[in-house]
Amino acid sequence: MDTIRTAKAMADWSAAHQREGITIGLVPTMGALHAGHRALIRAARLSCDAVVVSLFVNPTQFGPKEDFSRYPRQLKADAALCKKECVDVLFAPSTDEIYPDGFQTTVTVPGLARRWEGERRPGHFAGVATVVTKLLAIVRPTAAFFGQKDFQQSALVTRLVADLNLGARVIVYPTVREADGLALSSRNVYLTKDQRAAAPVLFQALKAGRTAIRDGIKAGTKIQQAMRDVMKQERLATIDYLAVCDPETLEPLKQVRDRAVLLGAIRIGKIRLIDNLLVKV
Ligand code: PAF
Repeated sequence: MDTIRTAKAMADWSAAHQREGITIGLVPTMGALHAGHRALIRAARLSCDAVVVSLFVNPTQFGPKEDFSRYPRQLKADAALCKKECVDVLFAPSTDEIYPDGFQTTVTVPGLARRWEGERRPGHFAGVATVVTKLLAIVRPTAAFFGQKDFQQSALVTRLVADLNLGARVIVYPTVREADGLALSSRNVYLTKDQRAAAPVLFQALKAGRTAIRDGIKAGTKIQQAMRDVMKQERLATIDYLAVCDPETLEPLKQVRDRAVLLGAIRIGKIRLIDNLLVKV
């Protein structure tokens, strides 16, 4: 496995491989890799000839009070996981490489960034959209792989790639979960033992919403209530939002017709967890 640190070397590597007709799968990450990332790498390996994993803790997607400085960084362990998964390139640029002196462009996807995570984390999605655009411009992959756990991020990236004709296929891979349903996330390491025991309540609440829909309940407020009722049972957790939305626009649904996405964010102590479930009626 090659480790590449500069944008130029990465772009040269991709250009050389594309000239040979080799398809490239990109898995963008901020490191602290876990089984969810492994699943993305394996999906990329199955559909592309070569796999590039980018590892960049992107400062512009963290708010001033968020965990940028303490975000888990474990390059050695991440490199070992990538090597084991036969990744071809680990692209690990420095902050100056991605945001050199004079950098001033920002990519925004205002409609999809307006609600939910975007509302609670101002500037977050502009940071994500900008860095993903840069990574796609540098690596020029055939396909890029994102986890469904960050549903709003995946929707926004899918939109921006189409809007800007970036040419990569965006593949959204299903959320990987622990046995008790907790969605895998690099931030789960922050949970204490008690908090970890409480954390699956979010998935349980989403499942209650799904059951309500499958039982024929159509009103968004009633489905929301079914999710809230489950949350009430866990005293360590507080609701940030639980929403019943259109999977394309992410706007709240008054009535569910054929498809909905249930979006949830909760707080357990200082830790914020997000998750979602796509439901087809
Ligand atoms: O999902 C993530 O890990 C990040 O938001 C991403 C897509 C790598 C951009 O920094």
